[in-house]
Amino acid sequence: FIYFKMQTSIRVSNRPVLHATKRIVTINGSNRAKCAVKASKAVLLKVENLEAKIASTGQPVLNGVNLIVHEGETHAIMGKNGSGKSTFSKVLVGHPDYIITNGSVEFRGKDLLVLEPEERSHLGLFLSFQSPVEIPGVSNIDFLRMAYNAKSKASGGKELDPLEFYAYIMPKLELLKMDSTFLNRNVNEGFSGGEKKRNEILQLAALESQMAILDEIDSGLDIDALRDVSAAVNTLR
Ligand SMILES: Nc1ncnc2c1ncn2[C@@H]1O[C@H](COP(=O)(O)OP(=O)(O)OP(=O)(O)O)[C@@H](O)[C@H]1O
Ligand SMILES: [Mg+2]
Repeated sequence: FIYFKMQTSIRVSNRPVLHATKRIVTINGSNRAKCAVKASKAVLLKVENLEAKIASTGQPVLNGVNLIVHEGETHAIMGKNGSGKSTFSKVLVGHPDYIITNGSVEFRGKDLLVLEPEERSHLGLFLSFQSPVEIPGVSNIDFLRMAYNAKSKASGGKELDPLEFYAYIMPKLELLKMDSTFLNRNVNEGFSGGEKKRNEILQLAALESQMAILDEIDSGLDIDALRDVSAAVNTLR
């Protein structure tokens, strides 16, 4: 997991969603974004000297980011408002608002930057948005099933019909203490801030991605919701 959080006086290791951290490295010196790193195993993600600019304005926004994530690790990337945390996460999943100007990113041994956003997802990269978008007219369960089937198909796996998918998703809904009525509502439409965040984790649970980038997953959650979401995230690790 990579976990994004606005820099606060709260120590990283006290956050319920996080586990022990060892080393702090500055990833964006001028903007004071920091990254806390834990343990070491096989390399999952390797970001080297990544620079990017905003496509519409040409303004540089990432100034040489370096990050190595090994399997099983949890990283916390912290920085003040506007320091580039969300931009970094969106660049990793291939958001078209940004142009890479330097550096490289390898994910599971592949060059991530040449892949389309959906190919990155199929390879196992997941991003929960800081501000999840509403998709009117698309039911949550159809959306989740389409996403699941697309990923499954890409890896030669079995696609699930509506009944099979219902059986697959129900335990995950329970894990997040979400009511089954959420499945038949349109994606995030009319959801409260906290419900949207739970729905992001439901998507992660449905896709069983190899790596999750959680952009301020705790913002907008009350203390009970934070506990539920943290428990669900830790179960998915
Ligand atoms: N698509 C865009 N168009 C214009 N400016 C952008 C765009 N994306 C990011 N920026 C600018 O880049 C900077 C970094 O933004 P970003 O959202 O990555 O910050 P952040 O660290 O996630 O902040 P926060 O803690 O508030 O979520 C900000 O100054 C922002 O205004
Ligand atoms: Mg942000």
